[in-house]
Amino acid sequence: MVKYFALICLTITLIACKTRQKTTDSGMEFHRPNLHFTPPSMWMNDPNGMVYYEGEYHLFYQHYPKETVWGPMHWGHAVSKDMVHWEHLPIAIFPDSLGLIFSGSAVVDWNNTSKLGQNGKPPLVAIFTQHSMEKEKAGHSNFQYQSLAYSNDNGRSWKMYAGNPIIPNTQKIRDFRDPKVSWDEDSKQWIMVFAAHDHIKIWGSPDLIHWSHLSDFGSQFGAHTGVWECPDLFPIYLESETTKSEVQSASNNQAPIKKWVLLQSLNPGGPNGGSATQYFVGNFDGINFKLDPAFENTVQNGKAQWLDWGKDNYAGVTWSDVPKKDGRRLFIGWMSNWEYATKVPTGNWRSAMTLPRSLHLKQTAAGLRLSSEPVQELEGLRKEKIELEPKTWKGDLELGKSLGAHAAGLELVLDLQLSNQVDAAFSIVLSNDLGENYQIGYRTAKNEFFSDRSKSGKNDFSDQFGTQTHVAQRRINSQHLQLHVFLDVASCELFADGGEIAMTEIYFPSANFNHIKLVSANGQTKLVAGTAYVLKAAR
Ligand code: FRU
Repeated sequence: MVKYFALICLTITLIACKTRQKTTDSGMEFHRPNLHFTPPSMWMNDPNGMVYYEGEYHLFYQHYPKETVWGPMHWGHAVSKDMVHWEHLPIAIFPDSLGLIFSGSAVVDWNNTSKLGQNGKPPLVAIFTQHSMEKEKAGHSNFQYQSLAYSNDNGRSWKMYAGNPIIPNTQKIRDFRDPKVSWDEDSKQWIMVFAAHDHIKIWGSPDLIHWSHLSDFGSQFGAHTGVWECPDLFPIYLESETTKSEVQSASNNQAPIKKWVLLQSLNPGGPNGGSATQYFVGNFDGINFKLDPAFENTVQNGKAQWLDWGKDNYAGVTWSDVPKKDGRRLFIGWMSNWEYATKVPTGNWRSAMTLPRSLHLKQTAAGLRLSSEPVQELEGLRKEKIELEPKTWKGDLELGKSLGAHAAGLELVLDLQLSNQVDAAFSIVLSNDLGENYQIGYRTAKNEFFSDRSKSGKNDFSDQFGTQTHVAQRRINSQHLQLHVFLDVASCELFADGGEIAMTEIYFPSANFNHIKLVSANGQTKLVAGTAYVLKAAR
């Protein structure tokens, strides 16, 4: 009898432990996202070297394999067929005598301009910053420079180019980093943009190895309250309401209008503090990047246009060599913020990437604007579709435990009409049995979206994490909201106004959120239509 009792007690304890591991912070894997890319273990920051080749999206990333905090940087590596399900590969590029491996990019050298190809196969060429700790410690200013590595086996192994660095830092600029390389069809040359403290440098090359300086951009425009990092300059076709891509507009017999977008990460100085990415729209003539006249006034006198208003989308750039017939400009960012990235309470790894997104340039009443949309490949994660009953309500509209149970892998598409009361507000509220909650919503009084993680669980690791409500200032003034929201274990991504507003925020509840409600404050809200998709985990 005593034996049976002991056995039952042991079984109950084991079950309790297992359940606790899943729902509280005691497990090393707790807070590991279901939908987002994370390193298998240890530290990760910026996405690097994103290139598509032979059916694989490559994602390299800033990685310190020995600790969960920033340290000597390597390039971690993963590949995917859909940017959603990832296969981890061994570390791709290691520090050498020239220094650590900071951020950079990769391209397919289709015409073997570099002569680094083998057996008729184009090489993958990675160009990145090397950072010499020794030089920095010795008080020199030229401790960052651009180097090259190449692969002849689909990125599985990399050789350092013997002539590194390919761009030494002769001007001795302390912040001289993050090269993003691409082939410019019009000027028939490789172009490279990289950050030099408060502006970007544009360089050109016939062969990826020999580079010359073309021009500088930016010290007069945009936000400058921090250092400029991780630029990306790329052409993009202007979309109207009816044309979604170059392919479509060509079939409509309209000449596609090509513009150039420059993404520029800034740290600190984001709209809600810390790290964030601003953008510029203009034209590139093979030498200079010049702002579009219809955009210039929005980035004058310190004003900026933000790619994402949340605190957790930084250092993002776009994939190179996405096939022409696909035509999308595909983006991923680092889902954290330098204000607290090294302190977030995850287990044996730190940081995730944002969901992959496609970028779109649209002509709006206020001029040219860039918008972000989650990629359609994410639809492959949809496991169950739940139509929400249209209704008009006031106060709380419970979506209930059954939906709430999936708050760690849920996609919501909501069409809402707020009342015309001047202080009408709407929010999505996630909560758990410990009384912790996270809210994301919209308030009419200021025509802004907001994200409040002040009671979302663990937030005492940094004063800058949860003390303020973060906001996104809307351009469109309307009581009609069309929202697309992705919820994961530890993050929320909001896309509104066709993606013109994106807001990415992380949080760390002590137990998974398991309850979800829609709240209509100060008047009635009409749920015109709503769909919830329960999502499968991508890992
Ligand atoms: C951006 C950044 C880059 C640099 C890298 C170092 O987050 O500071 O400018 O190359 O991280 O890890």
